[in-house]
Amino acid sequence: MNSEKLIVALDLKTDADVKKLVETLGDSVNLYKVGMELFYSVGPDIVRWLKARDKKIFLDLKLHDIPNTVAEGLCSLLNLGADMLNIHASGGYTMMKTAADKLKLRAEELGVERPKLIAVTVLTSINDADWEGLGYKNAVNDQVVNLAKLAAKAGLDGVVASPREAKSIREACGDDFLIVTPGIRPAGASIDDQCRIETPASAIRNGANYLVVGRPIRAAADPKAAALSIIEEINSVER
Ligand code: C5P
Repeated sequence: MNSEKLIVALDLKTDADVKKLVETLGDSVNLYKVGMELFYSVGPDIVRWLKARDKKIFLDLKLHDIPNTVAEGLCSLLNLGADMLNIHASGGYTMMKTAADKLKLRAEELGVERPKLIAVTVLTSINDADWEGLGYKNAVNDQVVNLAKLAAKAGLDGVVASPREAKSIREACGDDFLIVTPGIRPAGASIDDQCRIETPASAIRNGANYLVVGRPIRAAADPKAAALSIIEEINSVER
């Protein structure tokens, strides 16, 4: 049993730990997220290792800088063959549009498939106090929808957002816009540093295309059983 909607976050520091987890999960998981903890620890070869095992990769490096730097940074990642890359929507429309346009052009020039490009809206760990401290005048949900609309206008394929905001994003940006949701916690699981969370079933019901799950699988006594139980929950909504 597997699900094309589950992305397991490889927030680990060594090749050995990655290989152990990927081998344990076997065919039940085909999509993995490589984030900054792993990428900065072991370097790009881990992406090649996963690709050689026919796994799909969301390279979650969350670029946030001036337009040219972000666009060129993304283009430098093209040779790795990741399936999905991301940037911060709060870098603004010009940054996102420059990034999307340049990535498309460079992929065409190189004759490689263009990875999906998505934008992080508001981190799922942001709570009410954090939000107040940032000084935004609108509600989190409104800001997420704002940023999602901006990302769509700039030509991005979708966004990363909390499963709580997925419904409003779907309404605002349409059926073809990708919604990737971390902040997934099965009923009764530890919340850790996440805040705006939902269960796998409710994330799917709210319209998420992909669910990013890290600690509920990685830290489980039996990671494969934890993954299968989440997959079963996802599939129960799809049926
Ligand atoms: O362990 P957990 O399931 O909380 O992991 C969630 C993963 O999703 C982490 O790798 C985190 O970096 C990532 N993420 C997130 N919130 C975002 C974007 C990415 O939690 N807005």
